[in-house]
Amino acid sequence: MDGADFLVVANRLPVDLDQLDDGTQRWRPSPGGLVSALEPFLRGRHGAWVGWPGRADMDLAPFEDKGLAIHPVKLSHAEVRDYYEGFSNATLWPLYHDVVVPPVFKKSWWDSYVAVNQRFADAAAAAAAKGATVWVQDYQLQLVPAMLREQRPDLRIGFFLHIPFPPVELFMQLPWRTELVRGLLGADVIGFQMPQGAQNFLWLAGRLLGLEPTKAAVRVRNRPGSVPFDGRQVRVGAFPISIDAAGFDELAQSPRTTDRAQQIRSDMGNPRRLLLGVDRLDYTKGIDVRLRALRELLASGRVDPESVAMVQLAIPSRERVGQYQAMRRSIEEQVGQLNGDFGRVGRPIVHYLHQSMDRDELVALYSAADVMVVTPLRDGMNLVCKEYVATRHGLDGALVLSEFAGAAAELAEGALLVNPHDLDGVADALEQALTMDPEQERKRMRTLHRQVMTHDVGLWARSFLDFLDPSAATATSAEAV
Ligand code: ADP
Ligand code: F6P
Repeated sequence: MDGADFLVVANRLPVDLDQLDDGTQRWRPSPGGLVSALEPFLRGRHGAWVGWPGRADMDLAPFEDKGLAIHPVKLSHAEVRDYYEGFSNATLWPLYHDVVVPPVFKKSWWDSYVAVNQRFADAAAAAAAKGATVWVQDYQLQLVPAMLREQRPDLRIGFFLHIPFPPVELFMQLPWRTELVRGLLGADVIGFQMPQGAQNFLWLAGRLLGLEPTKAAVRVRNRPGSVPFDGRQVRVGAFPISIDAAGFDELAQSPRTTDRAQQIRSDMGNPRRLLLGVDRLDYTKGIDVRLRALRELLASGRVDPESVAMVQLAIPSRERVGQYQAMRRSIEEQVGQLNGDFGRVGRPIVHYLHQSMDRDELVALYSAADVMVVTPLRDGMNLVCKEYVATRHGLDGALVLSEFAGAAAELAEGALLVNPHDLDGVADALEQALTMDPEQERKRMRTLHRQVMTHDVGLWARSFLDFLDPSAATATSAEAV
């Protein structure tokens, strides 16, 4: 049988089809941490990628993109509404992010989720060679492992969840909870970002399906738990995702980047301290939290408006979902108020960009910033904070990080950890970061930098694949990342 030996199946392709105003189309990089993490890994090993091209009703034949075989999956307008915007992003997304906004439960959305998961499973089954390894990604495709195994028991199937797996009492709200657990158990290895997620899943497998999971504590990377299911032993582990740390480090050190970073600061009037936020425009990211904390510092006189500026980069995301529209309006209002109250002509406090940015410019921004502010209410991992750290080869700069980001488990030592629900605490941490002396910065950043450089996306992929397909894990260390 023809086909790929190694496949990634994800809701999105690594490239999105964009329609320009003049009617022409072009491909551009897809948003989000999943693509940022997986793409460099997969391109290196000449794999195949099954996913949606980001626009409804596109009939596209498979094609090759820089060594990667791309298999587009078509979604109708109704499916984008019900499966993507509906069940994935208005039911599962808020439910899995600690119910930051209320999840909506709708049977028609669930039906669409089942139908689309089946289409992805069919596409993967058609694209995989005999005995291939298939790595299914994220919450949009939790039924795919079982659907794929049904058709292709010869495959090795892995699943990785990029977002948090919720506490059991929240997961139990879901009317289709048993179906989702059964869907995931079609995999040979199920990976979560944090041990707690794996532990929650094991408990649910016992409670909802009467299975007998292992009881020992799950530890990061090499100590997964397991659960017997359908004559197989399903491994359930924690594999914290990361970034192409060496790539970011190298790019940050190039003279082009350092020049551009200087230029950015000078274009902004050379503020004494530059704060930076970089996020998809999502209500889980706590963009409003950091803006309110900054306002508090400026209003109370603890920070002089002449001495600081902030860049907030917000990549457009899920723009037709109601909660996202409301949040965008509120953030843009807050930015306007901050600039109205504390800026002056030619010198706004917050430079707000609602656009995606290419890697070179993003790294120049990271290099220019003195303080990186990452304040999500809940985040599976958060790659942005790791990207910032990887660019600080000079060991200057400070990181303010929410304790509810998965990355806090790894970066607790050097970051200033904050509870995003405690506005005074966030303001205190921002002030501390803005006034930190260079020696203290250096000490903290050295710890952070070492952690990120030694725990990159290659380690993540290898540690997962070690359990799923050891030969793929070896290939990963040899040729990719
Ligand atoms: P999520 O997966 O929820 O979007 P992460 O922080 O894990 O959050 O990953 C976000 C990724 O998107 C990072 O790799 C970051 O560099 C990238 N990114 C964020 N904002 C932008 C932007 N405006 N333009 C381009 N890339 C961006
Ligand atoms: O990492 C979380 C995630 O939801 C990915 O699954 C997704 O590709 C990315 O964020 C961006 O979201 P979306 O694909 O909905 O634009």
